[in-house]
Amino acid sequence: MAERNHFGFIDILRILGGILLFNACFSWWFTSTTTWGYNGKWTSVNYLKHRLTNNFVNLTTEQLALYNGTDPSLPIYIGINGRVYDVSISRSIYGPRGTYNKLAGKDAARVYVTGCFMNPGEYTYDLRELDQEEVERDLADWQYFFDNHEKYWYVGEVQHKPPTGDPPKPCEHMKFPGLVHHNR
Ligand SMILES: *[C@@H]1O[C@H](CO)[C@@H](O)[C@H](O)[C@H]1NC(C)=O
Ligand SMILES: *[C@@H]1O[C@H](CO)[C@@H](O)[C@H](O)[C@H]1NC(C)=O
Repeated sequence: MAERNHFGFIDILRILGGILLFNACFSWWFTSTTTWGYNGKWTSVNYLKHRLTNNFVNLTTEQLALYNGTDPSLPIYIGINGRVYDVSISRSIYGPRGTYNKLAGKDAARVYVTGCFMNPGEYTYDLRELDQEEVERDLADWQYFFDNHEKYWYVGEVQHKPPTGDPPKPCEHMKFPGLVHHNR
């Protein structure tokens, strides 16, 4: 008798599980998702793992190149002036057939500043001969954008060798469409 009245941890888990399942089914009914339409990073197993282990990567330029979306078993990373972000959730955008695939697996800091997407030479971390004030402002904005994105997250750093050879030729400045400048 005494045992039957004992309301234990397992019962609490059962009830919680029931509530979660009920919530998921209810959500599915209305939104065709189990999360009320939310599909940000908190539904990503990789993000949860990253938050739990608190592991950060420290890649070379060559290592970063592997995370270009070609291998479906690897995450997709982009670099912005040394900071690396996981954009795997948007495989349709950054993956092999995506609009922004050229940004994947590299630190294309320069093209975020100049917006010269049609020019393959711009997809580089080489920032020489650009207006340094503009570079700092634009890259800080882009890093802020990815640091605070609901789908993407910061995973660590990429270390580049200093650029050699001639820097890319100046190109017509056309800003990346859609960047919201933050007043900070
Ligand atoms: C990353 O690696 C470089 C050497 O490749 C080292 O100098 C740097 O301190 C490392 N950074 C972190 C955050 O571990
Ligand atoms: C893209 O990544 C794959 C492995 O994930 C690698 O084999 C390939 O060389 C990479 N492509 C480039 C252009 O670096």
